[in-house]
Amino acid sequence: MSIGKRKQRHIRVSLEENVESEIPTGFGDISLVHRAVPEIDLKDVDTSVELFGRKLSAPLIISSITGGTEEAKKINRTLARVAQRTGIGIGVGSQRIAIQWPEVEGTFRVVRDEAPDVLVIGNIGCPQLSLGWGIEEAKKAVDMVEADALAVHMNPLQEAIQIGGDTNYRGLVEKIGSLSSSLSVPVIMKETGAGISYEDATRLEEAGVSGFEISGLGGTSWAAVEHHIAREVGDARQEYLGKSLWNWGIPTACSLVEVRAASKGKIIASGGLRSGLDVAKSLALGADTAGIAKPFLQKAIEGEEALQKHVEAIIAEAKICMFLVGARNVAEMRGVPVVVTGWTSEWLKARDFDTAHLASRGR
Ligand SMILES: Cc1cc2nc3c(=O)[nH]c(=O)nc-3n(C[C@H](O)[C@H](O)[C@H](O)COP(=O)(O)O)c2cc1C
Repeated sequence: MSIGKRKQRHIRVSLEENVESEIPTGFGDISLVHRAVPEIDLKDVDTSVELFGRKLSAPLIISSITGGTEEAKKINRTLARVAQRTGIGIGVGSQRIAIQWPEVEGTFRVVRDEAPDVLVIGNIGCPQLSLGWGIEEAKKAVDMVEADALAVHMNPLQEAIQIGGDTNYRGLVEKIGSLSSSLSVPVIMKETGAGISYEDATRLEEAGVSGFEISGLGGTSWAAVEHHIAREVGDARQEYLGKSLWNWGIPTACSLVEVRAASKGKIIASGGLRSGLDVAKSLALGADTAGIAKPFLQKAIEGEEALQKHVEAIIAEAKICMFLVGARNVAEMRGVPVVVTGWTSEWLKARDFDTAHLASRGR
């Protein structure tokens, strides 16, 4: 299957089939403590944040979704226009296709053309680094969209389920280290729905990366996406594997606590975030910004207005949550008390993370 066809299938399957994890993000186990007297005015709450040299109106990005086809270009144009209008950041989808076939570069460049003032994050994948890509290809990806940072996606689960996937993850930490030291923009390591552990974040931080995008378990499941594709093309083995590993991964809230404990770098919380409340909880757990993919894709298909209204509603909701815990800005959100219960509390205890000392972690 060509990469272009595969990209189109990913979009269609994500929109038409059930691809959601059955295991929750863990944000349901996280509570922020209400302040009856917040001692601030909602109007004075400042949601803006700085990330990789750009000011965002709110701690929110559109996580990496697409590029490479005419359909993807249309989606990217919509996403980018709304990012520009609302002042949030945007990540482009994997740029592998345009590095191999420069004639489709425009399907990515449209993002920078339509969003000249916002944070744009480029995207390449670990499998390509394994196949010999390095600084030259990474620079091409950055230049293509004048990226402010480059995300290197980690998708071992997806590659293992995808028919003919690239599963060689040997020696990657070293390659990522040399990429981080020679690229002119920050390198961030991004999962795609299975989360990042304390141990991996520690290794990658030591290698020199500048940040992480969590993309934990609880939202779009790539085992699920590849399950549906395998079923459509009649590959019974991969169809079975996608079903059985559908819920593999580290729930987003757990992964966020783990990575914040390991790293002093920037963290984008993503994977199943669906509301402004989820955004606020992410900040309280130590994220710098939150990211959302599939719900924004769904709204982008409806059109610019639908997407813009949705983004604005999420920002308004996050702002009210900040007000209700008495936080005047994003920095103050990272100091508010957090109550962790249920499965997430069990996870963190089993992994030896003391939830009582969350309030001081990474801050
Ligand atoms: C249709 C689609 C395509 C995606 N393509 C990419 C990609 O090219 N590179 C990448 O790093 N992540 C990609 N992702 C993963 C998202 O960036 C995100 O990590 C994941 O979907 C979890 O977030 P969500 O639950 O909000 O969808 C894609 C997601 C979707 C839905």
